Amino acid sequence: MELKKAVGIKAADYIENGMVVGLGTGSTAYYFVEEVGRRMKEEGLDIVGVTTSIRTKEQAERLQIPLKSVDEVEYIDMTIDGADEISDDFHGIKGGGAAHLYEKIVANNSKKIIWIVDESKMVQKLGAFPLPIEVVKYGSQQLFKRFEEKGYQPSFRKNEDDTLYLTDEQNYIIDLHLGQIDYPIELEKELDKMTGVVEHGLFLNCVDTVLIGTSEEVIVKE
Ligand code: 5RP
Repeated sequence: MELKKAVGIKAADYIENGMVVGLGTGSTAYYFVEEVGRRMKEEGLDIVGVTTSIRTKEQAERLQIPLKSVDEVEYIDMTIDGADEISDDFHGIKGGGAAHLYEKIVANNSKKIIWIVDESKMVQKLGAFPLPIEVVKYGSQQLFKRFEEKGYQPSFRKNEDDTLYLTDEQNYIIDLHLGQIDYPIELEKELDKMTGVVEHGLFLNCVDTVLIGTSEEVIVKE
């Protein structure tokens, strides 16, 4: 079975009746959400979902998973989401699917966070995967120039027809091609301070458990 599918299905075992569940975004989270939908239909699992993107919302609606917005719940019991890179010290890059703003809001309101990845996402240090930065349109060219000056090798994310990609919040994405991030905490502080940056894809010190799909088995790392 494909690794992303195996790990997505396995992750659904963590979901129990009565939970408020954060439903992640991406091709791995897709399989998790499908399995939650299957368990609800076939096993009578009873949960409420909080989605992290319009895409996942549409999938959950198709599966008839009852949904609430993050503002309608007191807290989220558990969020299960994908990741683009996870370092040895359990920091992550997310946002390859441009959903990291909602994903971080949902994560920040979750008691427990599980990331589901195939083994290719596990790295020693972050940075080979371009770091996604969601920016407001106004002033985005100026931010781009500042990133260039800092040597961060930015690129605007584009659609296939060469138009600029728009997030669910109608913002742009600038991807930073950093190669290697030696000081993620310092970089996080720097990006947090930049006006016009809505959210970046550094997810530091937030994950509790990682499920890693390998060709032999699904490994659990805490
Ligand atoms: C979306 C994300 C995804 O979780 C991340 O890109 C991983 O995606 P995939 O499971 O398709 O590899 O952060 O914004």
